[in-house]
Amino acid sequence: MNYARLCVALITVCGHALRRILLTNFQVPYADIYQVILANRQKLTMRPGRPLLNNDQIMLLFPDPLGNRVGTVDQFDISLLYILIRNVSSVPAPVTGWSKDPCDQPRDTSLGASVERI
Ligand SMILES: *[C@@H]1O[C@H](CO)[C@@H](O)[C@H](O)[C@H]1NC(C)=O
Repeated sequence: MNYARLCVALITVCGHALRRILLTNFQVPYADIYQVILANRQKLTMRPGRPLLNNDQIMLLFPDPLGNRVGTVDQFDISLLYILIRNVSSVPAPVTGWSKDPCDQPRDTSLGASVERI
C-alpha cells in the first residue's frame, strides 16, 4: 500500500512539479512550449550514438506528417520532462552537474538540484 502511495505521489506531485518548472523556465518569457520543442527538434532527435528520445516520446513531442499534434504537456512523463528541462529550458545545472546525486550537496537548493533530486 505504501509503495502504491509512493508511486502515485511520484507520478502526480513530481510530474506536476517538473511540468511547472518546464513551462516557466525559458530564455524567452512565456514562450510556447511546443514552439520551443520544435525549434530544438534537431538537438532532440539527431544525436550520435544512443538516441535521446524513444519513438513514443518523439510521437508525443512532434506533429505527425500531416501536422496534427498528438501529445500535450500533460502526457509528458517524468523522464521526458527531465530530458526537456535539461535540453530546452533555461534551468541551470546543479553545482554537482546534471546526472550526479545532488544529495552530496545538501545545501544546493537551486532549481537544477531540485529537478535532479526528483
Ligand atoms: C539532454 O538531456 C540528456 C538526458 O537527459 C542528456 O544526456 C544530454 O546531455 C542533454 N543535452 C544537453 C545539451 O544538455
